[in-house]
Amino acid sequence: MTEWEIFAQARALHDAGDCDGALTLISKARPELERIRGHVACLQASCHERKGNRALALRLLENEIAAGTTNFWVYYQIGGLYEATGRQDAAMAAFRQAHGLQGWPESAAHGYVLSHDYFSPNIPVWKQWFADTITATPIACLEIGSWQGISSAWLLDRVVAPRGGSLTCIDTFEGSSEHQSWLHTLDMSVEEFFDHNIAATGHADLCRKLKGRSQSVMLQMMNEHFDFIYIDGAHEARYVIQDALLCWRVLRPGGYLLFDDLDFRFPEHPEQDTAKAIDAFLAWFSDELSVVERGRQLLVRKLAGD
Ligand SMILES: C[S@@+](CC[C@H](N)C(=O)[O-])C[C@H]1O[C@@H](n2cnc3c(N)ncnc32)[C@H](O)[C@@H]1O
Repeated sequence: MTEWEIFAQARALHDAGDCDGALTLISKARPELERIRGHVACLQASCHERKGNRALALRLLENEIAAGTTNFWVYYQIGGLYEATGRQDAAMAAFRQAHGLQGWPESAAHGYVLSHDYFSPNIPVWKQWFADTITATPIACLEIGSWQGISSAWLLDRVVAPRGGSLTCIDTFEGSSEHQSWLHTLDMSVEEFFDHNIAATGHADLCRKLKGRSQSVMLQMMNEHFDFIYIDGAHEARYVIQDALLCWRVLRPGGYLLFDDLDFRFPEHPEQDTAKAIDAFLAWFSDELSVVERGRQLLVRKLAGD
């Protein structure tokens, strides 16, 4: 078995809830796994965290950093652990380091601030999409759900400022349902994070902030047109379907619509799982779109429309 096959087996055990099984497999295969030790450390850390030993999880990742790792996931995961243990400055530093490893040094250079990073794992695929597929220049972008402005800052740094165009960001800045239990623990409001980051890009003049529920705000925007729209706001199917329908009206033919969180689940209300709305939308509009890529995110191209 290759190291990646062993890793996949351990990951499957972890995902099935068998963390002891995953840890045993890893310790037996230790020499074979040496070449991918950063990934392995992340998996071990996740197992220990699930087992309630966050201190050990942190130690494993800190050891990797001390050993000089350049593995993005190590910094990304430790950022989340630092945040969960109230070490917000350490979390921010780890996330910025992670951004640098994804080829986005502007995050550290501009001093972006964040508590939770929902964006940086997307950077490699976004880079590829914006290089090969989403090539409109200048480009009009719309983002529903901007949170602390990290995906917005990347779009400004890497797409809108170099090409010309604009970015419209719609957010309540009140967080989504999944944020409500801990939002009050942050030192700054979501909107303060967002405002800081957009100003720090140096391209605030290219960004329009619209505060409110997208399902209402967009009703005033039906005469506008966009080349790229990112739907990452409320994840409940009842809201995602409204966002999708409204966005479809303002997406130019040939434009691209990107949905986040296909895998988002509401265990208490499975009828609201995000993918329920996305799959309904795909079925109803199948003759007006082509699917470019479906993973944790779904990118579609608009072929035609009214
Ligand atoms: C997951 S976060 C967005 C993350 C961001 N795109 C990123 O990658 O950094 C979801 C955001 O959607 C916003 N939101 C939730 N419901 C909304 C609604 N009905 N209208 C507008 N924004 C909403 C929340 O306030 C939150 O900031």
